[in-house]
Amino acid sequence: MNIVKVNASTSYEVKIGAGLLSSLGAEVAAVAKAQIAAIVSDSNVWPLYGETVAKSLGNSGFSVVSYVFPAGESSKNGSTYLSVMNFLAQNHITRSDCLIALGGGVVGDLTGFAAATYLRGIAFIQVPTTLLAAVDSSVGGKTAIDLECGKNLVGAFYQPKLVLCDTDTLNTLPDDTFRDGCAEVIKYGILYDARLFAHLQEKGLAFDREAVITRCVELKRDVVAEDEFDTGSRMKLNLGHTIGHGVEAGSHYTVSHGKAVAIGMAIVSRAAEKEGICDECTKNSIVEILKQFGLPTDTEFSAKLLYSAALSDKKRTGGTVNLIVPETIGRCVIRPTPVETLKTFIQEGL
Ligand code: NAD
Ligand code: GLY
Repeated sequence: MNIVKVNASTSYEVKIGAGLLSSLGAEVAAVAKAQIAAIVSDSNVWPLYGETVAKSLGNSGFSVVSYVFPAGESSKNGSTYLSVMNFLAQNHITRSDCLIALGGGVVGDLTGFAAATYLRGIAFIQVPTTLLAAVDSSVGGKTAIDLECGKNLVGAFYQPKLVLCDTDTLNTLPDDTFRDGCAEVIKYGILYDARLFAHLQEKGLAFDREAVITRCVELKRDVVAEDEFDTGSRMKLNLGHTIGHGVEAGSHYTVSHGKAVAIGMAIVSRAAEKEGICDECTKNSIVEILKQFGLPTDTEFSAKLLYSAALSDKKRTGGTVNLIVPETIGRCVIRPTPVETLKTFIQEGL
């Protein structure tokens, strides 16, 4: 097992290793004085891991209750959120109890937001079961639900008390969902770590999961320590996302987040080469590794459509969109791009 300590407004450990689920009860008991552990999970994850988790918590003396909602992004909304709130109240969950988010980023974001707001804040534990949740969403305290107008528009910064990542849970992920998480892993390599990138190039999908997840969490730990509330350097984690959001929205969310981010990273890399920000070798390495992982690098959507979507990006400030652009593998820059030149930049990358 590897342990990464995150120092944000509160400090907590991220524990990563095989077979950790059965020790969840003991781990929670060490960080929370709760009597009741309320597990929130989705309809895919609960049948696979609910019993192990509930048993482990029960064996450590917790009373266990559970709330399971239909899997998928369409559940990450106000209606599910209120159902969770009512469930907590009906089960007399108090501020000294705790929530357990058992699932991917959808469960983690929604449960985290419920924890941040129920009784003005109760303890919660992230138990990520997707690669994306393990390397990104479970760490760093961003919690949210979606509105009809857009994703993650309601949320809070609220750190968990513990993140417990059992790498064995990734064995049941559909291939496609695993690849989606790989796009985020590759993103960390491009942003910060040429050695991580080289490991991924060498091993492909057979990369060392425990080591790679640990490295990504260390990188995210550093970002969160520097900019917990996302006012500066944390926005680098948006590499590929501004244009990726356009692909997601343009496809009415039939293109998954990971694949859209892969396309976004390929587009900014091609545009960066044309603008002389990175060299051809860097651009080729990025496009090739995405292909190696079975991720898409092209889109049928026009520069006009992607440009319109980028304009409604949450990170836009006035007449400028902050694009994250690679200079070389392991180093990217935040490039404030005036909206007048954004369409040309996107066009160059298509
Ligand atoms: P997800 O939670 O929808 O999980 C993807 C699918 O895999 C779902 O069908 C789920 O039921 C299933 N699943 C999960 N674990 C499984 C397992 N071990 N075995 C089999 N099936 C399993 O999606 P995701 O990709 O994990 O997360 C995407 C969400 O994360 C989005 O809502 C996004 O906005 C959010 N996100 C948040 C942050 C953050 O910092 N908070 C960062 C990135 C993404
Ligand atoms: N996933 C983006 C962030 O945590 O800032």
